Amino acid sequence: MVTGLHSFFRRLILTLAGNRLVTRLVSRYGMRLGARRFVAGEDWEQAVVQVKALNDSRMSTTLDYLGESVTDTAQARAARDTYLALLEKIDASGVRASVSLKLTQMGLDISRELCVENVGAIVRKAADLGNFVRIDMEGSAYTQVTIDIYRELRRDFDNVGLVIQAYLYRSEEDVRSLAGLRPDLRLCKGAYLEPADVAFPRKADVDENFKNLIALNLGQGGRTAVATHDEKIISWTEAYIRENRVPKELYEFQMLYGIRPALQRRLADAGHPVRIYVPFGTEWYPYFTRRLAERPANVLFFLGNLLRR
Ligand code: FDA
Repeated sequence: MVTGLHSFFRRLILTLAGNRLVTRLVSRYGMRLGARRFVAGEDWEQAVVQVKALNDSRMSTTLDYLGESVTDTAQARAARDTYLALLEKIDASGVRASVSLKLTQMGLDISRELCVENVGAIVRKAADLGNFVRIDMEGSAYTQVTIDIYRELRRDFDNVGLVIQAYLYRSEEDVRSLAGLRPDLRLCKGAYLEPADVAFPRKADVDENFKNLIALNLGQGGRTAVATHDEKIISWTEAYIRENRVPKELYEFQMLYGIRPALQRRLADAGHPVRIYVPFGTEWYPYFTRRLAERPANVLFFLGNLLRR
């Protein structure tokens, strides 16, 4: 699909997703009508089955207990407690899984202090259990505060990583400024609706920037998770890794649960470190709509299921 049409479509879906009626309808029927393809289940018991299957195929995972934009302190603390329990369950079950979380789920919209307290408790628990916490990156209104909180956590912990989005103009400077920390970065294209003064509107520019960021962070000695299903970027990375003899400890490929599973297996079978992002929980609506917006065919699939009922 041509870039302009794709970008129009993406904007349309993300805008519609904010509509109250659409939210109600999709939240009610979505899991049965297609969300299940992207969400591993509504609880740990369902999710761990998928995690074990991925582990059996030589892939690690990162578990995302779905939730974002929390405006209630008790809810933010409950999300923290769920992550603390999740880390225990991962440890007890022996599965290969780290965790990913969003700062707005930890109460960032309520207060920065509450958020840091919640995330700090999770990172400390993960450190005790030899595990790792990745802070997902949200919309551009949160970029600076997310980086600041990451820096704050890094004063006490090494087992925490950040996400940088290739569609943002600022990202190159952000990666450069983090060099001293030797950050563990997940690089991705970026999934939110952003204006042209903040993010590259053209896919070709995002893709070029993505490659620059990969080379930049690896060149600075930072561990780099290349999070994409884009075969061109993946092939480029494979060549870069080969030519520059990047050791396995310094990179991994990451993909989303349910997206391009054959490509996931191909990379794992080729001996690359591969980690699959496995979201679960009942708050799947915003995650699901971002996945729909990335690909027109997903909406057709979803509507097709709706009409067949
Ligand atoms: P692109 O959109 O160009 O897609 C390349 C190909 O992948 C497509 O042609 C298609 O085959 C397949 N594909 C991509 N998306 C698909 C979909 N939804 N359904 C079916 N097929 C699809 N974003 C963010 O803003 N903050 C974050 O913290 C993260 N975290 C994150 C973790 C991981 C592990 C991944 C893989 C991605 C993210 N993202 C993210 C999302 C990311 O920014 C981006 O929106 C998606 O990965 C889609 O872009 P691709 O890089 O796959 O390329």
